Amino acid sequence: MNFDLTEEHIMIRDAARDFAQNELLPGVIERDENQTFPTEQIKKMGELGFLGMMVDPKYGGGGMDTISYVLAMEEISKIDASCSVVMSVNNSLVCWGLEKFGTEEQKQKYLTRLATGEIIGAFCLSEPEAGSDATSQRTTAVDKGDHYLLNGTKNWITNGSSAEVYLVIAQTDVEKKHRGINAFIVEKGMEGFEIGPKENKLGIRGSDTHSLMFTDVKVPKENRIGEDGFGFKFAMKTLSGGRIGIASQALGIASGAYELALKYSKERKAFGTEICNHQAIQFKLADMATNIDAARLLCLQSAYHKDNGLNYDRSGAMAKLYASQVAMDTTVEAVQVHGGYGFVKEYHVERLMRDAKITQIYEGTSEIQKIVISRDLLK
Ligand code: CAA
Repeated sequence: MNFDLTEEHIMIRDAARDFAQNELLPGVIERDENQTFPTEQIKKMGELGFLGMMVDPKYGGGGMDTISYVLAMEEISKIDASCSVVMSVNNSLVCWGLEKFGTEEQKQKYLTRLATGEIIGAFCLSEPEAGSDATSQRTTAVDKGDHYLLNGTKNWITNGSSAEVYLVIAQTDVEKKHRGINAFIVEKGMEGFEIGPKENKLGIRGSDTHSLMFTDVKVPKENRIGEDGFGFKFAMKTLSGGRIGIASQALGIASGAYELALKYSKERKAFGTEICNHQAIQFKLADMATNIDAARLLCLQSAYHKDNGLNYDRSGAMAKLYASQVAMDTTVEAVQVHGGYGFVKEYHVERLMRDAKITQIYEGTSEIQKIVISRDLLK
């Protein structure tokens, strides 16, 4: 078994690291404080190819593998998890779903612009009463011949106001339960499509999370993704890959906090020596580094499965379950290593601690990951 990264992987990781240090670090505290969407930063990420990394170059993407995506996600997330969630949703949930299941016309019309970052996309599954229980969709899409009439509300939508293209999951036939669900491409500006106010969040405050309201929105039939009734499977398959992205985000938040704690422990003196010379701190650093390495291996394993046509439902869920717990544990300990300084914004670790929490909630809570893993074990 070979654990070495290829030269190309190292190049991509280093490019993401340099970009994050030079372009994302300046202003990250202010963007978090003011809940400012990172418009300029996302534009640059698009120009550098970070928004459509795995898409075929013929549709404007980077043609890279999932390993490259994990490496880039980790580096971007170390510095700004608000930027990396935009990156993860656009790459994994929107571009991947469209490339894998969209028609050639849909790809030409939407994917080419999404993969280059000219526009960004959103994935709209969650509802006020359908979060974890994703089959209980209340949003309806009634077949009217050449179009569907879309009605309902979506909640917690990442890129809610900044997206131009929305993949919306809706019930077309209640009798058929999850087999009567479809996925649609909805454009910003379609009549009857309204964006609700921005959520004021604990973490990832730079990203824009909104409710969306659909009232008699006419969605052309050619905007349905896949065969009639494919929407729930579309969502599940897309989320399986999305979980690798969020696992890598959690990994990056953890490793960012660890690196800050390590550096601080070599500078800060207490009881006559740098605090890294105290065993109390050494034990924390050892635990952090060990857990982070284990999380990285799980992320890379699930990426390897995806790249090699193997089933990654279970390994992606395991990576997300574990890495998000490591993100929580590591960021809490990183604040502790910093003492009082960890509690103020200038030292970054309090933001990473707040950002870590969402990785245990979105794209399926930790409890949902355990359901996915155990069902796969028992089948
Ligand atoms: N691939 C393909 N098909 C799948 C699948 C997968 N990974 N997982 C399930 N399915 C299929 C099943 O085979 C079944 O199909 P058939 O009946 O035809 O055999 C169908 O889907 C229903 O499956 P289940 O009976 O397992 O469904 P369930 O109601 O028990 O729920 C669940 C399964 C895993 C709990 C699912 O509801 C789930 O993943 N919930 C969490 C939803 C979620 O992650 N939401 C996040 C929102 S997006 C987000 O957060 C983005 C963001 O902002 C960053």
